[in-house]
Amino acid sequence: MRLLVTGGAGFIGSAFVRLALNGRWASRLTNLDKLTYAGNLENLAEVERDPAYRFVHGDINDAQLVVRLIEEERPDAIVHFAAESHVDRSILGPGAFFETNLRGTFTLLEAARAVGVERFLHVSTDEVYGSIDEPHDADEGYPLKPSSPYSASKAGSDLLALSYWTTYKMPVTVTRASNNYGPYQFPEKLIPLMITNAMEDKALPIYGDGMQVRDWLYVDDHCRAIRAALRKGAPGEIYNVGGSRALPNRDVVEMILDAMGKPHSLMQTVKDRPGHDRRYAITTEKLERATGWRAEVDFETGLKETIEWYRANGEWAGRVKSGAYQEYYERNYAGR
Ligand code: NAD
Ligand code: TYD
Repeated sequence: MRLLVTGGAGFIGSAFVRLALNGRWASRLTNLDKLTYAGNLENLAEVERDPAYRFVHGDINDAQLVVRLIEEERPDAIVHFAAESHVDRSILGPGAFFETNLRGTFTLLEAARAVGVERFLHVSTDEVYGSIDEPHDADEGYPLKPSSPYSASKAGSDLLALSYWTTYKMPVTVTRASNNYGPYQFPEKLIPLMITNAMEDKALPIYGDGMQVRDWLYVDDHCRAIRAALRKGAPGEIYNVGGSRALPNRDVVEMILDAMGKPHSLMQTVKDRPGHDRRYAITTEKLERATGWRAEVDFETGLKETIEWYRANGEWAGRVKSGAYQEYYERNYAGR
């Protein structure tokens, strides 16, 4: 398959690019990325010399560039990861979320419509369903009730993408994944933030009572699900992707501290996030039935590997946590 990937220098996108090139899922892969704070070409060092790979530094809002790339590369599929992806940042400043997640997705869809493309895979999140009360799990028909500017921007872009199938018969498929974790994740999200703070014996900030539940999905399992949806998923369809491992945040952080031999006293309760969703829970039978995909990595194994990766890549984390990261950290956590 010839692929045009957006946001391939971020956490999940770079895992997908590495797997697609190393595993020969793609005969040609073009990665369009703006290199925001979250984009990092170091994540792609192992594939940068692959002749099947092309990196293009640019914005998905640049309509001319996107049209030119689709014309030049004639991809079989566009896999759209590019987004502003962090809930806390969307609370501090939602503007960029509108620009990239909504307007950027629109620009990309319009370019794909103008030139024509065999498949458009829009990578989305289970956060579009909002907080889900026990004992329910959201299937793909569950109502959308996003809580944060981030999840609202993703819900909007999902609906826009799906409308291109309904209206123009553009073959759009949407995947909605639960919380990802694994190597190369930017240390603003729960798991890498807790691992890297614990490495420095810094306080681990727990929002509110820490009993919010998230379903954890190893990043490579997510990438394999995207590949499965590309190959066997149907246009116009939505597929949830989950790890079937729902845990309260506090349990996750305690598991991290135990695995690292650090005391639980590093955990520090801080003021809760506004609009904080209490529980995410999804069913993944639709994807499993349609494609045969199953999550392969259990949480204990994935977490252990992730901790080992951060320990072995302290320099990566050190570089990522310098400069602008410190300003963000101060803004989000000071006085909380
Ligand atoms: P990330 O923040 O790590 O990476 C985002 C990437 O997009 C970066 O490389 C960034 O430079 C690029 N980008 C941002 N704006 C751009 C623009 N205007 N033009 C081109 N490139 C741009 O994000 P991630 O965690 O890898 O998430 C990837 C996708 O998966 C997102 O769409 C996100 O909503 C979705 N998702 C994430 C999770 C999760 O747990 N992280 C779960 C489900 C779904
Ligand atoms: P996060 O990784 O930001 O993902 P999302 O909000 O998209 O689910 O947060 C995961 C959970 O961890 C969420 O309930 C918020 C909580 N959390 C903390 O308690 N402390 C923190 O410092 C962070 C970043 C998150």
